[in-house]
Amino acid sequence: MRAVQQLAFGGPEVLEPAELPDPQPGPGELLVEVELAGVNFADTHQRRNEYLAEAELPFVPGSEVAGTVAGTGRRVVAMTGGRGGYAELAVVSEAMAFGLPDGLGPHEALALLVQGLTAWHLLRSCARLAPGESVAVHAAAGGTGSLAVQLAREFGAGTVVATASTPEKRELALACGADVAIDGAPEGLADRLVEAAGGRLDVVLDAIGGQVFDESMEALAPFGRMVTYGVSGGKTNTVNTRSLMKNGQAVVGFWLAHCYERPELLAPPLAECFDLAAEGRLRPLLGERYPLSRAAAAQEDLAGRRTTGKLVLDPSA
Ligand SMILES: NC(=O)c1ccc[n+]([C@@H]2O[C@H](COP(=O)([O-])OP(=O)(O)OC[C@H]3O[C@@H](n4cnc5c(N)ncnc54)[C@H](OP(=O)(O)O)[C@@H]3O)[C@@H](O)[C@H]2O)c1
Repeated sequence: MRAVQQLAFGGPEVLEPAELPDPQPGPGELLVEVELAGVNFADTHQRRNEYLAEAELPFVPGSEVAGTVAGTGRRVVAMTGGRGGYAELAVVSEAMAFGLPDGLGPHEALALLVQGLTAWHLLRSCARLAPGESVAVHAAAGGTGSLAVQLAREFGAGTVVATASTPEKRELALACGADVAIDGAPEGLADRLVEAAGGRLDVVLDAIGGQVFDESMEALAPFGRMVTYGVSGGKTNTVNTRSLMKNGQAVVGFWLAHCYERPELLAPPLAECFDLAAEGRLRPLLGERYPLSRAAAAQEDLAGRRTTGKLVLDPSA
């Protein structure tokens, strides 16, 4: 099969097109003929072996695929557990494969899988968003952020503030349902967030880290929850418990991998996202579609902040 393989850690150049033996499913596993493979920001961390889970060489990157279970005609979207998606064929656990509802295309379904589940858990499981609470979503034109804005709205949030780096991205965030969209640059971000929300925020969803995290903490109200789920900016933060106490704030971390062994945290939220999409109340923002051989360009564009919405690779192109 055709695939993209990493024989080394490093820059985008380590993503090498390769001809590999077809993977063989074991007990409890399915072989999926991949129609589209999802690209996630975590893939760029994993490429340099800087993600939360250590990677072992060689490997085929890619944590999610949409396609057909070989020999059955059954259409699924599935998580691979972190590797194997950038290929014509992928082996996935049956427990991490979900039927594709009629009317939902593979690109839309991939948008809702890793990023949709993440957005859902950020708001429901981590922030425990209550109706009327204000929410700020950073990188709101991105794959995860664009869904978080829409779900915050759907879950009854009060003011939703979006941040993004360009006017075009801020327009997209407003189209997703944000009340206000502001520049997400770190300098002076706390003041801009408070002004945009008309007061301190109840919830902030942050996957950037560094100064953006610190400024967001400044903008968080007493009883506010900061949900940290990524470090796109490359800098992790240290939290001072005395400040948390003094300001009455909570910091919650999220990693989707903790849901893998808990089916009740996967299928029901995904079904909810699929239903919302079927009703037109959740509209996945579809980003660029790259041929499989251009996986390096996809990752470069994602890390270079040049993309919006869900990026996918097409093994047939
Ligand atoms: N913890 C989990 O389980 C989990 C699951 C899914 C995703 N995530 C995390 O969520 C974040 C978003 O992932 P995604 O796949 O949906 O990507 P994405 O949001 O579509 O793309 C990343 C966006 O982050 C913003 N950004 C801000 N500072 C950046 C920087 N220094 N470098 C690159 N981008 C920067 C950019 O938007 P602007 O140009 O508008 O600032 C960029 O477009 C990532 O950190 C990812 O690791 C975590």
